[in-house]
Amino acid sequence: MRPRNEYAEPYRIKMVEPIKMTTREERTRKIQEAGYNVFSLRGEDVYIDLLTDSGTPAMSDTQWAALMRGDEAYAGSKSFYRFRDVVRNITGYEYVIPAHQGRGAEHVIMTALVKEGDAILGNMHFDTTMGHILLRGAEPVNLLRQEGYKIESSEPFKGNIDLEALERELEERGPEKVPFVLITVTCNSNGGQPVSMGNIREASRIAHKHNVPLFFDCARFAENSWFIKNREPGYEKKSLLEIAQEMFSYGDGCIMSAKKDALVNIGGFAAMRDDNIYRKAIEWEIPFEGYLTYGGLAGRDLEAMAQGLSEVLDDDYLEDRIGQVAYLADLLLARGVPVITPSGGHGVYIDAKAVLPHIPQPQFPAQALTVELYVEGGVRGVELGACTFARTDPATGETIYPELELVRLAIPRRVYTDRHMLCVARAFEGILERRSSIRGLRITYEAPVLRHFTAEFERV
Ligand code: F0G
Repeated sequence: MRPRNEYAEPYRIKMVEPIKMTTREERTRKIQEAGYNVFSLRGEDVYIDLLTDSGTPAMSDTQWAALMRGDEAYAGSKSFYRFRDVVRNITGYEYVIPAHQGRGAEHVIMTALVKEGDAILGNMHFDTTMGHILLRGAEPVNLLRQEGYKIESSEPFKGNIDLEALERELEERGPEKVPFVLITVTCNSNGGQPVSMGNIREASRIAHKHNVPLFFDCARFAENSWFIKNREPGYEKKSLLEIAQEMFSYGDGCIMSAKKDALVNIGGFAAMRDDNIYRKAIEWEIPFEGYLTYGGLAGRDLEAMAQGLSEVLDDDYLEDRIGQVAYLADLLLARGVPVITPSGGHGVYIDAKAVLPHIPQPQFPAQALTVELYVEGGVRGVELGACTFARTDPATGETIYPELELVRLAIPRRVYTDRHMLCVARAFEGILERRSSIRGLRITYEAPVLRHFTAEFERV
């Protein structure tokens, strides 16, 4: 990666959206009113919004132009075929089913393929994916290699799945209990960490040896392709498209939240090779998402996705994108904020246990840090720790806590400049100064599934 000061953003700004800083007093009041949950804040009360990289990109001029071409025919829209052909070209998968977003595709695929008592093996499932697996009465099994859980590391592919564990699980459970293996690229839940081509190739061989199909959760497939090109020997000279095509060639299908690497504000899809899987999926597509050629989207959304997918596999764009994430990580490390290293593709993940060691995990240290970051700098990050991932053991009734207690600062694509990143780093300076006085949180309301979106807290 070139040093950040040797080049500039590979685009110029054509339209601006004003943002405004609030006072500390206002933020203290607003976060209390929000039940200490940043999801309940109004967007306009946030100065720099790093809640998610999902659905928050700036579209290109070409994508905006493509919207005008949207064909809104209920069935057989031209926009669908254009979109389908772009997905086919990248993935090689014959059948393409649009969905309103990633979890729509998850809903369709899980309902079609997963039954009670099944297990979905993967490197590390994202929370909505985990939610959908649990809703089917099945078990989400994370088989990330141990290295992937380390905060500090120089390992280039921390998203890799543990191949021996995969082999063992498949042998023990048998193919009738594992409808598919799901590899998430990049692996969001441990830091946007990439998965190597070598690991994908082997996982594919093992899954197929057991007659189990391999699917990708490919929300960030372009970022993963860039990491392969820049970190995996033998791929330096390949184009990003060739790398993506090779990756998909090892699988049998994918589900995608297009709100990430398709550079759009809404959209998703599932795609697959096998017509039996396709037939099962479309039984659920129509009642859940809509007719096969629109799947919960307008024709213009399909156009924007097609265009976004056509422009995302670009070396200059991805170097700038992933470079900005690394830049923020470096700013934080220089200030003594422990972050996951190497930094991943779409955000910086802060080790909240290390920043607030005096707050025990049942008092949500990562949530507490998320709250303080908003109060200090008007910056909105998101908790990926006990609130999002803790589960109750059905056998013992005990809470199983996740290994990692993280605050994620996800960077929207093509939206913020490096000066915004400097402001974020400065907010941490203030937090570090007063960290020993920061208190933990207690839940006062929670929903039965995906509680982190609506949970309410009070200070301990
Ligand atoms: N899979 C991964 C790896 C994701 O990161 C997400 C969403 C989904 C599936 C679900 O997609 O939101 O379009 O329904 N991640 C967002 C995030 C929400 O902030 O990381 P969706």
